[in-house]
Amino acid sequence: MAVRRLFVPKEVFYGWGAVESLRQWPGKRAFLVTDKIMSSSGHAEKVLKPLRESGYQVQMFDEVEPEPSHATIRRSADRALEFQPDVILGLGGGSCMDAGKLTWLFYENPQLKEMELPQLREEARRYPLHKKASYVAIPSTSGTGSECTPVAVVGLHTEKMPIKVIILNLSMFPDVAISDAQFPSTMPPSITADTGLDALVHALECYITNRPSDFVDALAIKAFQTIYRWLPKSVHNGQDKEARERVHTAATMAGIAISNGTLGLIHDMAHQLGSAFHIAHGRSCSLMLDAGLLFYLDRAGERFIEAAEIIGLRPKDARDAAAKLLAALRDLRKDIGIPITMQQAGVKEKDFMDLLEVMATNTRTLPLRPLKETQEQVKDLFMKSWRGETL
Ligand SMILES: [Fe+2]
Repeated sequence: MAVRRLFVPKEVFYGWGAVESLRQWPGKRAFLVTDKIMSSSGHAEKVLKPLRESGYQVQMFDEVEPEPSHATIRRSADRALEFQPDVILGLGGGSCMDAGKLTWLFYENPQLKEMELPQLREEARRYPLHKKASYVAIPSTSGTGSECTPVAVVGLHTEKMPIKVIILNLSMFPDVAISDAQFPSTMPPSITADTGLDALVHALECYITNRPSDFVDALAIKAFQTIYRWLPKSVHNGQDKEARERVHTAATMAGIAISNGTLGLIHDMAHQLGSAFHIAHGRSCSLMLDAGLLFYLDRAGERFIEAAEIIGLRPKDARDAAAKLLAALRDLRKDIGIPITMQQAGVKEKDFMDLLEVMATNTRTLPLRPLKETQEQVKDLFMKSWRGETL
């Protein structure tokens, strides 16, 4: 067996009230990166209070917007450089946790702050972190898994459409992930559904596309099973504490799986579709789910069978497993109010055709690794999704 490496945070605290564990984290000056929703809802205070009470001086930057701009992250880093924290925290959805990571990266390496995004994308991976501060990620949604990944996304507006630039640095892996379900427990049903579906797709897409790994497979398949079972309860009754906790913990498990395994074409294409039509990420993944998964059926038949079986289906063979799995996932999405087709998501045919070429080009060139798939293959998958093709 080849030698493999598993990236995990130094510590993961999970369960209701896990944020109180911050009292044990060593440091004197804490800088919290978050957004106005977290600061005005009282969630930020749930983080700051245990820190203050254990003797920290604290400062907060709460100006992170969805898909934060480079300018916002530079401002946050400037504030951190003035304050000189020894702990940086990111609280919120993926945008806040990513903005926190990049604040940390710039704080530790101020020369990176001056680079424009294309150069930063190339250079960022070479710079070390952990010299001046540790990083604590606290998700307020049960979805992105950013609390357990070494990547951050920055929004960039181009002439044709906004795109997402992915910054990778293997040492940008959070020291601590705090998966405390009291933060997502106030999400409305539509955001619970959208973010939960993202987490489900992380788990399933990773399980189907990843090269076999006992560690990653175990996290991915268990996360898939848990989210499949508990997400509907979490959407239909946000007060269901057990459902909230199960989905939240599973989303973090899926995050560890994807940072050690792979995602595939569903995510590659969903990023571009979402940017082009301003569709929330979980919904974009839903629109790409059938075509994106089926692309792997020939080479990962056994995985389809295992994924189907883990949610209680009894397939005859790989093709039957894929058909049953996709049908079950259609039922799940209908149940939680997530669109399955482009038409349901309000995408107009002319707009889709106008942007098809650029979406396919960006799918192939913008991810961390250029795709092996050809322009025609990617366009074909977008078209299959447009037509709603499935098994
Ligand atoms: Fe995702």
